[in-house]
Amino acid sequence: MKQKTVLVSGGAGYIGSHTAVELINAGLSVVVADNLSNSDMSGVEGVRKITGVDVPFINVDCCDKEAFREVFEKYEFDSVIHFAAFKAVGESVADPMKYYRNNLLSFMNIIDLMREYDRHNIVFSSSATVYGEADELPVTEQTPRKPATSSYGNTKQMCEDILRDSVAAYGDLKGIALRYFNPIGAHPSALIGELPRGVPQNLVPFITQTAAGVRECLSVFGDDYDTPDGSCLRDYIDIVDLAKAHVAAIKRMIDGKNKERYEIFNVGTGRAVSVLELVNSFEKVNELKLNYKVAPRRPGDVVAIWADTSLANEELGWKAERPLDETLRSAWAWEKNVRGIK
Ligand code: NAD
Ligand code: WQD
Repeated sequence: MKQKTVLVSGGAGYIGSHTAVELINAGLSVVVADNLSNSDMSGVEGVRKITGVDVPFINVDCCDKEAFREVFEKYEFDSVIHFAAFKAVGESVADPMKYYRNNLLSFMNIIDLMREYDRHNIVFSSSATVYGEADELPVTEQTPRKPATSSYGNTKQMCEDILRDSVAAYGDLKGIALRYFNPIGAHPSALIGELPRGVPQNLVPFITQTAAGVRECLSVFGDDYDTPDGSCLRDYIDIVDLAKAHVAAIKRMIDGKNKERYEIFNVGTGRAVSVLELVNSFEKVNELKLNYKVAPRRPGDVVAIWADTSLANEELGWKAERPLDETLRSAWAWEKNVRGIK
């Protein structure tokens, strides 16, 4: 029983809710813990509807160790996927302590409680942001991390290091850091998806909100980069594919297949797509015209980054599968569902 249940911290959010669905599809049980600071109950309700499982939900702040302890007291699980964190890069620069407090404390509490309650496997949500402006492309897990350019990025590097050191020191703990590239899209049911609060900072939610008429015009930040069409290159990973990478990572640890007790995997498609390509594909597959203009470069953007995914392909037996067109259709279907557009 303990082996088969996964605690999903931050499971009411975008990536957590999709991962909960895929864990359940893979025959695992899920407990969701979230304080709804950047989400609401619609994610959990969507998971319940899609899977037909009455997934337990606990409203708790992972930074409140004593409150969080209750989850460890009450539920038998051996594995944790830790999504709970703040993720807005710009806000993290404006208010670093908010990010250090939330992202570090929640993670340290989890590791402390896992040790105290003898729980063993943890997957940590890391990010391609740890590579910064990489010297070699595509980036492999061996590509050196660059000094973080935001407090958010710094929390991801620090949590990776906390996990590495904890696994080295505490015999029974195993950990996998998954470095996500740019997660986009929604579940094919259109019952769960990305629900940003306020003005979206990320490209695809801005695109879908522009198509829905919520935003007037998309700004394409820069068309004068040294890239084939002048706009930035990224590796856009479908959200369901990303969710499945978590299942593979958890199973690897449960089955004792990990080669090292701490491992890192890039989770991307291995394909670089430009901003303009993405915009054009979105228009084409959804048969609409998007109001967009070219605007100045956004400070802090890296020109290009995409993943070498060989390690995840070989070791996790995982590969991104959903075609970009389908992902972009799902993003629009979700936005229409949210806005009540037919
Ligand atoms: P999200 O905001 O949709 O989900 C995070 C969830 O964590 C939210 O439901 C929020 O309410 C919850 N949460 C935050 N702090 C908490 C706390 N102290 N206690 C309990 N719950 C808390 O974000 P997401 O896009 O699903 O991201 C999930 C994880 O993946 C984050 O760690 C993020 O940094 C990481 N990540 C995201 C991206 C991306 O582009 N979305 C890319 C790389 C890494
Ligand atoms: C993608 C491309 C923009 C918005 C961020 C975080 C990273 C990770 C994923 C968490 C860039 C361009 C965007 C817009 C645009 N998150 N763009 N107009 O910056 O690659 O990564 O999310 O870990 O840490 O930094 O993603 O979606 O913001 O931007 O032209 O309105 O789209 O310039 O080239 P990014 P993004």
